[in-house]
Amino acid sequence: MARHPGYTQPMTAISPGTAPARQLCVVVPTFKERDNVPRLLAKLDAALSAIAWEVIFVDDNSPDGTWEVARQLAQTDSRVRCIRRIGRRGLSGACIEGILASSAPYVAVMDADLQHDETQLPKMLGLLQSGEAELVVGSRYVSGGDTGNFGSTRLGGSVLATNIAKKLLHIDIADPMSGFFMLRRDRFEQLAPKLSVQGFKILLDLVATAGGKLRVVEVPFSFGERQHGESKLDSLVVLDFLGLVLAKLTNDLVSLRFLLFALVGGIGLGVHFATLYVGLRLNLPFAEAQGLAAFVAMTGNFLLNNQLTYRDQRLRGFALVRGLLMFYLVCGVGLLANVGVAATVFDQEPIWWLAGAAGALMGVVWNYGVSSLFVWRSK
Ligand code: GDD
Ligand code: MN
Repeated sequence: MARHPGYTQPMTAISPGTAPARQLCVVVPTFKERDNVPRLLAKLDAALSAIAWEVIFVDDNSPDGTWEVARQLAQTDSRVRCIRRIGRRGLSGACIEGILASSAPYVAVMDADLQHDETQLPKMLGLLQSGEAELVVGSRYVSGGDTGNFGSTRLGGSVLATNIAKKLLHIDIADPMSGFFMLRRDRFEQLAPKLSVQGFKILLDLVATAGGKLRVVEVPFSFGERQHGESKLDSLVVLDFLGLVLAKLTNDLVSLRFLLFALVGGIGLGVHFATLYVGLRLNLPFAEAQGLAAFVAMTGNFLLNNQLTYRDQRLRGFALVRGLLMFYLVCGVGLLANVGVAATVFDQEPIWWLAGAAGALMGVVWNYGVSSLFVWRSK
């Protein structure tokens, strides 16, 4: 038997830990849920008394100190763990990281805000343990389930998104948008490398990525009302959803970031043209008007990308100013290339929009390439 040089005892002498192996891990993504964490823990404790379980709170460095509350609870309760992520945001990414941090054979994902019904967890676990299902979904859209007091806009949006996902991605479960589900960890590990860490719709991603190969059972539950804190779902969640659908439709050829890049780029081009047009009307020499247009478009692109494309790594306050300055700096070369290309084209062929577009294209390629490497440091 191979031994480590410093060892006199065979490796087999290492005794196993004394904690019982966990059957179930409940992964709870949190952002600003300080008041909900202890309440959820008490509810899990009551609902899971017959099960060896653990809970992992995955907190994105909440400013209200949610992670501190979770750590404090973990000091006296070994079933509790907390992952504090710094410099990252995103519900899906947090869930993926939490699930991958557990060794339990079964993992559940649920919200911290008590809107999901923890009393369903033993039933969900039973369905997995009996082999009847590989994935169990807490569903608002099967008989016996409901969406609680969703307003008409949110209900309409939810139903519409569900129908789009079902038709385009050929998904045949009733509630692929649910944030409440449980599955076998081995199945998850197989799918994990293909999942998107951006966005909110991890279940939809899972089901679409599995492509019908997961045995799914849905159990009804009633979506509760949030008591403390507020929802983090904003209107930009629509973008995440559309991006995910498109990525899955194109077999991950077109990523969400790429789409947002293109969208912001298109808007930037519009801003560029408008500024160039106004500049020329004000009798600015062409090169100056083009330079000004690029500057305005660049600033707009930076702000929009910070708002949309990189909303998960959004820069704020001082970091925003620093990012903008860095953006100008690293794109200075791009701006020179932009004006140079545009002026050369204009010299050859004095068509302002052709010259402007050629220059802007040059600038856009630079801005995107360099900014994603240095300004937001995305993967
Ligand atoms: N770590 C982390 N990072 N957690 C987050 C983030 C984030 O960026 N954004 C939200 N969360 C946490 C919240 O703290 C909460 O525990 C959970 O994720 C759900 O967020 P909510 O803000 O409560 O979302 P919701 O109630 O509006 O939406 C829920 O229901 C939808 C179905 O209508 C979620 O479960 C959605 O995934 C689900 O689609
Ligand atoms: Mn919620």
